[in-house]
Amino acid sequence: MEGKRRIGILTSGGDCPGLNAAIRAAAKTAMRDGYGVIGINHGWQGFLDNDYQVLDGMKTSGIIDRGGTILGTSRLSPFYVENGPQFVFDGVKELGLEGLVVLGGDGTLAATDRLYRMGLPVVGIPKTIDNDVRGTDFSIGFQTAVQIATDALDRLRSYAESHHRVMLLEVMGRHAGWIATYAGMANGADAILIPEIPMDSEKIDALCRMLLARNEKGISFSIVVVAEGTRLDGRTVEKPVHDRSRDGQERILGGIADVLGGIIAEKTDLEIRVSTLGYVQRGGTPVAYDRSLATAFGVKAVELITHREFGQMTALKGNRVTSVPLEIPAGGTKTLNLNIYRVAEKFFG
Ligand code: F6P
Repeated sequence: MEGKRRIGILTSGGDCPGLNAAIRAAAKTAMRDGYGVIGINHGWQGFLDNDYQVLDGMKTSGIIDRGGTILGTSRLSPFYVENGPQFVFDGVKELGLEGLVVLGGDGTLAATDRLYRMGLPVVGIPKTIDNDVRGTDFSIGFQTAVQIATDALDRLRSYAESHHRVMLLEVMGRHAGWIATYAGMANGADAILIPEIPMDSEKIDALCRMLLARNEKGISFSIVVVAEGTRLDGRTVEKPVHDRSRDGQERILGGIADVLGGIIAEKTDLEIRVSTLGYVQRGGTPVAYDRSLATAFGVKAVELITHREFGQMTALKGNRVTSVPLEIPAGGTKTLNLNIYRVAEKFFG
């Protein structure tokens, strides 16, 4: 490693399946190009704690199918800490990094964009099961989460059918209904509720009428997918928070399906059950699609660094792996393409 050119890699924000596949691809590509590779542990926190590891062939082999991230992650933003950006600049300088690959969701990528504008040689890779990063069709982790949610819905369908019940499954998706819509469509769900289409009493009445009509037709069960960020009368439902590390962070959502389930039960004589999928969606082995996407993104990120094209994020556009300026993901959330919802909707009820 001594005397070698170096790049760094870090993972920040919520974990998701496929992070290790991207770390492996970026590290192995960089090593082949003659770079030494440093992993920064626990996201940006690693720069505050001087917590790093050398990523060699051994550490990056056999991890393509492993969930989580071998580097650890945290939701800490350098901009929430006094002199945070300075710690990052000092760390990059001390480690002699020519470029830094940052794997993150919209929040992390917005911070990465700010650091780039301050002069940091960075590139981003989009990762989040929510698929709400702007500038790319898909983010690492999304397809695995959709598969997990679809498997859960398939299992809940046999339960609901046997017991003649209405089953509500709450899935992740703070700002966008990507997981809910793709999984619901794959399962043939009877209704899908998403943040992009807020609920109110009129919509609840329509949902109840649809559920009752199914019953009258002799179909004694229904499946409803609910994204955690679905608003009711303009408000989201939050979960109690049990840690202090979320200072300055968004609240944790959860519970909207329970609230809606209660209202449907009051308005109809249907038997309602509610399940919440939660963190299961973020864990375990990535599906093949996420491994391939992560591999392509890892290779592309190193290519960007070697060409000194900093301030870019790897992106998928159709079947093409390309890049977009970091200011695009930093510009806001990518909500669901409602054309996809319109397809799923054709099979409601
Ligand atoms: O990764 C995005 C996400 O899964 C959201 O859908 C969810 O609300 C959030 O992360 C919760 O994660 P944590 O508790 O780790 O902050």
